[in-house]
Amino acid sequence: MTSIGIHDLEVATAHHVLDLGLLAESKGIDPAKYRVGLGQDEMSMPAPDEDIVTMGASAAWEILRRHGTDGIRTLLFATESGLDQSKAAGVWVHELLGLPSQVRVVEVKQACYSATAAIQAAMGIVSRFPEERVLIIASDVARYELDSPGEPTQGAGAVAMLIGADPAILEIEPPSGIHTADVDDFWRPNDSSTAVVDGALSVRAYLDAMTGSWDDLAGRGGPAIGDIDRVVYHQPFTKMARKAQQRLDRHAGGSLGTLGLDSGSVYNRRLGNTYTASLYSSLASLLDHEEEDLTGKRLGLFSYGSGCVSELITGIVRPGYADADRSARVRAALDTRVPLDVPSYRSLHALEHSSVNDLETSHVTRAPFRFSGVRGRARQYERTDGAARLP
Ligand code: HMG
Repeated sequence: MTSIGIHDLEVATAHHVLDLGLLAESKGIDPAKYRVGLGQDEMSMPAPDEDIVTMGASAAWEILRRHGTDGIRTLLFATESGLDQSKAAGVWVHELLGLPSQVRVVEVKQACYSATAAIQAAMGIVSRFPEERVLIIASDVARYELDSPGEPTQGAGAVAMLIGADPAILEIEPPSGIHTADVDDFWRPNDSSTAVVDGALSVRAYLDAMTGSWDDLAGRGGPAIGDIDRVVYHQPFTKMARKAQQRLDRHAGGSLGTLGLDSGSVYNRRLGNTYTASLYSSLASLLDHEEEDLTGKRLGLFSYGSGCVSELITGIVRPGYADADRSARVRAALDTRVPLDVPSYRSLHALEHSSVNDLETSHVTRAPFRFSGVRGRARQYERTDGAARLP
């Protein structure tokens, strides 16, 4: 059988950053609560001319610059920060990237889980048409109410992935473990721009879903815990991965300990929660920072979306997976974000674009694509000088 998996992946983020030390100070909270208690240092925040489309297009643009568009007939856009009840955000990306009209575009939703559903759909397509490649974009802006417990776990970012046969980074193995349960732990009603969350319940639901996924994987002939070398996790905050690995070791009788937790959270500590993109930015972080050569190692990837649906997949790292250029690009994107002070962060948080009146945004972002405003109730996007022509 043809091996299928992640051929390439790229991380993009937003224009601004808030240091969580400043946020803690503004509330009279010990910064260690955020840095150690939650395991978060910073959070990305979009400029007024950025959103899930501009971040997602920026990540995908890098992938297409390297691989071209040949064989791509599907673009799956995973997000829970949808911009329209009808139109898939990926259709704007399709136009910005100049993709051929023979590319189907769909948006996929189930909280933070949906990029993993997109991968499963993509693997089905590639197993039927091995010459095809599927472009997946996971892009989100995590927003909680100001002064709520979730506030320090906000963030913004996107990951683009190319799924194909004979992949260069990770060959995904067939069995996976699934767990679905109807839980009111976190959701965002249609009339709210911030999430509603029961924090303590969400942590319990995440951990229960993880053991449920493990049991399903084990029942379907998945690998023994001792045959898994590292696990990367959905990271609403990086401490969650520590809690999950501890629980996994206890539940499955493993001895992973703290293996892979630091290397798998370098990007996430600085991005904040990126919902659908979080697990895959953690994968990029592990690939870019783990000191040991991961070639031939088996990784577990635990995907969790509140509500809740979770899936544990495994994959084997391919020779030549390392990409020093990607890690330099992600580091530069993180290092060059423009810092916010707390009052500017709070006013940016309050900014909500309505579609009722026409609007032109001022040009702030340095990304290759920007949200230029609203005309006749429709969102408008444009390429900036940073966007070279794609092959
Ligand atoms: P909180 O009120 O900050 O909780 O809310 P806390 O007071 O229990 O403190 C958190 C940790 O900081 C604790 O450690 C404290 O001991 C520690 P723990 O017991 O958990 O190991 N702490 C300190 N450490 C060092 N120095 C100090 C100090 N003080 C306290 N001085 C909560 C935390 C996660 C509930 C909140 O941030 C929240 O509601 N977040 C949003 C929901 C969330 O992220 N849930 C995670 C699971 S659900 C999920 O992953 C899905 C999601 O991504 C959405 C989706 O799927 O779409 C959210």
